[in-house]
Amino acid sequence: MEKGIFVIGNDTGVGKTVVAGALAAAIKAQGINVGVMKPISTGARETGGKLVSADARYLKEIVGSKDDDDLVNPIRFKPALAPTLAARETGIKINLDKVWEAFKELNDRHDFLVVEGIGGLMVPIDEHLLVADMARKMDLANIITCKHCLGAINHTLLTVECAKSRNIRTKGIVINMLDNDKEFVSEIEKYSSLPILGTVPFMKNVSVDNCTYGDIVEYFRHNVNIPGIIRRGI
Ligand SMILES: Nc1ncnc2c1ncn2[C@@H]1O[C@H](COP(=O)(O)OP(=O)(O)O)[C@@H](O)[C@H]1O
Ligand SMILES: [Mg+2]
Repeated sequence: MEKGIFVIGNDTGVGKTVVAGALAAAIKAQGINVGVMKPISTGARETGGKLVSADARYLKEIVGSKDDDDLVNPIRFKPALAPTLAARETGIKINLDKVWEAFKELNDRHDFLVVEGIGGLMVPIDEHLLVADMARKMDLANIITCKHCLGAINHTLLTVECAKSRNIRTKGIVINMLDNDKEFVSEIEKYSSLPILGTVPFMKNVSVDNCTYGDIVEYFRHNVNIPGIIRRGI
């Protein structure tokens, strides 16, 4: 069995949180002890004197995680900016030791970890590292989420290329917000040479902001290759 997955996106706003959450819950439904993590979030809201990220809250709720916010989402910023820009604006240095410590603790607590990436692979996370370096260091199987829209073939293939050139082990692609476009799917499959692990339509009652999931976990259990994702190897 894999020890977890790192969900990367071809962009921000493509459904990483929705896909990571639904995968985590569908894997948990197989009787596996699953933990979730969003290492760095920006655009967090202040609630009761604490910063809370909508992504971390969604991931925790959908999987029923009891882990503390400081483990699930060790670094959070209020400005809705790229991490290094949010750090500069707030004057708070990004301390990645917090991420590695939380990652280790969550790995000890759980048999399988679902980690949501930040934006795309080339997003800087401190003075020296990119999200791609974080993905490498965590050494989990990677899954690319892409959103069906004009321009997505280019962005997805750039992401695949970047993952390949940096030796990031990628299991396959989940295509989000796809209603009926077999040509798009076959184009992504052909040029990426990666398996399409599932396609997900726009689903009503799914909202990260409102923390609602509708029927998405059931959908993933029956329409996404969950056994292939859990199984060790690519
Ligand atoms: N399959 C879907 N059906 C309905 N809404 C979706 C779906 N996927 C994503 N969304 C919505 O689209 C927005 C972006 O998704 P999100 O998972 O937050 O993207 P990312 O994590 O990549 O930034 C959110 O408001 C989310 O609720
Ligand atoms: Mg997200």
